[in-house]
Formats: sequence, structure tokens, C-alpha cells
Amino acid sequence: MALYSEKVMDHFRNPRNVGVLEDANGVGEVGNAKCGDIMKMYLKIENNIIEDVKFETFGCGSAIASSSMATELIKGKSVDDAMKLTNKAVAEALDGLPDYKMHCSVLAEEAIKSALDDYHSRN
Ligand code: FES
Repeated sequence: MALYSEKVMDHFRNPRNVGVLEDANGVGEVGNAKCGDIMKMYLKIENNIIEDVKFETFGCGSAIASSSMATELIKGKSVDDAMKLTNKAVAEALDGLPDYKMHCSVLAEEAIKSALDDYHSRN
């Protein structure tokens, strides 16, 4: 079996929603101290719905694929639903990650939670 699923490779090669959202009203940045990877998440929330989302990830391929998939999973969802997104759900949507790469999906969950915290602190 290949180490990485086709979905991981697809989101790594063609990440969705990459970039900066100038009019974001929730921004979160998290990092993993061990590997040094950093993820930044921008949310544009209107009427409690994630209208738009973009990310910048300076990290490994699994972190890029995880952030890409995470943005797809929360786009158009309510703030409450986005808050419930777990790293496990991200990894499952990618058809799995190797065990030692699960922490990369944790970064995606944390980045979204951090951006939502920022949104709540502004409102
Ligand atoms: Fe650190 Fe993937 S190796 S996020």
C-alpha cells in the first residue's frame, strides 16, 4: 500500500484555498514545536457562517494536505460546526494519514480553533 492516499497527494499537489484573506475577521496561527511547522488560518464569518477561508502553511506535505482539506470541510458551515471539526475527521476525509503524521492534522484542527477564538474575542 502506498504511504499516502491519493487524496493526500491531490491536496498536497493542488491545495485548495491557499492564501491570505485581507478582510478576515478571525485569524489564527499555530505551530508544532517539534517539527517547526507553522499554519495560519483566515476566516471570513458572516451571520455565523464561514463565508470564506484561506490558509498559509509552512510545513510538511501532510500539513498542507490537512489544512487544505480542513478548509474544504468548514467552508459554508456554521461557526458551531467548524468548532466541532476534529483532526480525526480531517484525516478520515483524506482517506487516512500514517500514524506518525497524525500530528499534522492536529495542526489543522488547532489552526481553525485558534481563528475561531480570535473571531469570538473580536465580537
Ligand atoms: Fe510537522 Fe507535518 S511534520 S506538521
